[in-house]
Amino acid sequence: MSGLRVTGWGTALPDRVVTNAELAETLDTSDEWIVERTGISERRVGGTTSELAIAAGRAALAKAGLEGSDIDVLLLATTTGDRIVPATAPTVQDALGITGGAVDLNAACSGFVYGLVMANGLLATGARRILLIGAETLSKITDWSDRSNAILFGDGAGALVIEATDGEGDLLGWDLGSDGSVTHILKCEHQGTIEMDGKEVFRRAVRVMVDSSRASLAKAGLDVGDIDLIVPHQANLRIIHSACQKLGIEPERASIVIDRYGNTSSASIPLALVDAIDSGRVTSGDTLLLTGFGAGMTWASAVLRWSR
Ligand code: COA
Repeated sequence: MSGLRVTGWGTALPDRVVTNAELAETLDTSDEWIVERTGISERRVGGTTSELAIAAGRAALAKAGLEGSDIDVLLLATTTGDRIVPATAPTVQDALGITGGAVDLNAACSGFVYGLVMANGLLATGARRILLIGAETLSKITDWSDRSNAILFGDGAGALVIEATDGEGDLLGWDLGSDGSVTHILKCEHQGTIEMDGKEVFRRAVRVMVDSSRASLAKAGLDVGDIDLIVPHQANLRIIHSACQKLGIEPERASIVIDRYGNTSSASIPLALVDAIDSGRVTSGDTLLLTGFGAGMTWASAVLRWSR
């Protein structure tokens, strides 16, 4: 039996910073409103999804001390691929010198945690090393004239190298879900921009994060008291705080990057995870709860032991 172990991590962000004050130059909004209602102060904008994914993937490989040719499968979680066909993963595979398989997966903002669970399954059936990347350029599908949308989104990428380890591994429990009956509350049609019923998304987001977190903890045989750090999808700071409160997790135990990066969909959980690792908030033996939700509606949670 093989399980997973994280051995490398990395991120990539565009250089261009767009502050709330800059948005307020063209939109009827203010820094105060955005910070108070979302927790966002600025976001990054620019590049292509493949460029960001390649940079984050390269950083994660270097951290793991591996080459692209060591990777059996590249999983790229994204909703904003460079084009419709082919997928973006082959572009990243080629640039990184990966000789294994490469595929995009789209579960909106839940995509990275879906990918983590899929990686675990691939390792259980014989793969040895997987590169999992979440990368987005949401700025391409944002209506920059709509104040209720433009304030929320940003671009970025985060990546993990995941290797097989004997035994059960570090993924202790997981929960994946989907409810396609509410597609209409958050979507982007071909050539369109993001359309959203913000209040309805907010309401459901808190509920599914809480339920999914509890389900993954139950599968791990743990409870919230065992969690050292929660790494939630970064959509709105109030959603995170509300979910933490309902779960009984102090907000100080949450990794937060939304203030700097906004909502980066598939990239948000790896950006928040790597930020916590690099700032020394994660130590060997810690138990992490990754939880997200997104368009679909989808949701995904994973309890991950950190054994680096
Ligand atoms: N600046 C100033 N005022 C704004 C504004 C902005 N950027 N955006 C909306 N408003 C206004 C509204 O027009 C409304 O005015 P009205 O009362 O005169 O009609 C008022 O603020 C309240 O709007 P409301 O939509 O109730 O605000 P909210 O507190 O629900 O915040 C969101 C709006 C979008 C920030 C919030 O609903 C949200 O984050 N939802 C979840 C979205 C999400 O996570 N999407 C991605 C999921 S992966």
